Amino acid sequence: MKNYTLNNGVKIPVLGFGTWKAQDGEEAYQAVLAALKAGYHHIDTAAIYKNEESVGRAIKDSGIPREELFITTKLWNSKHTYEEAMEAFDSSMERLGLDYLDLYLIHWPNPKPLREDGAWQKRNAEVWRAMEDLYQAAKIRAIGVSNFLPHHLVALLETARITPAVNQIRLAPGVYQTEAVDFCRAHDILLEAWGPFGQGELFQNSAVQAIADKYGKTIAQIALAWSLQEGFLPLPKSVTPSRIASNLDCFDIELSPADLEILKNISGLEGGAPNPDGMDF
Ligand SMILES: NC(=O)c1ccc[n+]([C@@H]2O[C@H](COP(=O)([O-])OP(=O)(O)OC[C@H]3O[C@@H](n4cnc5c(N)ncnc54)[C@H](OP(=O)(O)O)[C@@H]3O)[C@@H](O)[C@H]2O)c1
Repeated sequence: MKNYTLNNGVKIPVLGFGTWKAQDGEEAYQAVLAALKAGYHHIDTAAIYKNEESVGRAIKDSGIPREELFITTKLWNSKHTYEEAMEAFDSSMERLGLDYLDLYLIHWPNPKPLREDGAWQKRNAEVWRAMEDLYQAAKIRAIGVSNFLPHHLVALLETARITPAVNQIRLAPGVYQTEAVDFCRAHDILLEAWGPFGQGELFQNSAVQAIADKYGKTIAQIALAWSLQEGFLPLPKSVTPSRIASNLDCFDIELSPADLEILKNISGLEGGAPNPDGMDF
């Protein structure tokens, strides 16, 4: 698999394996093991997914050398201070069974209890300082954010010593966050696409089906090819071994400019992008 190069020079495989809702225990363990065997070398988890321990076990049992893998986890919203961020990182690393991490992300920019002016900005500045210190201590190879809109990034950059390498946001055919995409491109922040299948909703979309039929590919493969041609890094999730393998068969697709545009603008995806300033957590 090819790599993107992050703004600090670190290479990151262009596609990663999603694990949200992969249940801790056999389900997450078998899914990640199947993914690693199928050729994914980039795994995306988070403390709040409560499956880091299973992900870590699968990584260990895969027998793949650690330096060939790229592992991401995320700091949850309940961690508000420098010390809490440091402890959360250590706990994630213990559950994952790793001695360094490839990418650590602030999961959401505006936790519900801090939703007043000044509070979320201070929290993000503080946890970012902890992440910068972990990066400088070589415990993490790259640091980034998730679900940040331009106003959250502008606030973070006021005190940041290090520009985030990544912003992981919801992006899929029909879910295109233009302002965040433009801001990140202008600041050399790689966009990771969560929910690249519209969290499953794309599979019922007749416009995407028509394009898939035209290229002789599945909807999943078309959605991933779209993401890659946009320069995003998609994070497809599945716990089904046949899908895990077939989803990877997306690298030989060359969508025409017209089809890229149709996919960008398809309608019908419930919910669209979330509002990170209004989430219930
Ligand atoms: N940063 C954030 O706030 C955030 C939020 C959400 C997600 N994420 C990350 O992004 C990843 C992907 O997002 P997501 O899991 O929400 O949604 P998604 O990857 O868009 O969709 C996952 C759904 O698609 C199904 N699926 C996968 N391949 C398929 C295929 N070939 N044919 C038919 N159905 C298929 C899966 O079913 P089965 O599993 O049953 O096969 C699952 O129900 C997550 O797992 C997580 O790592 C991050």
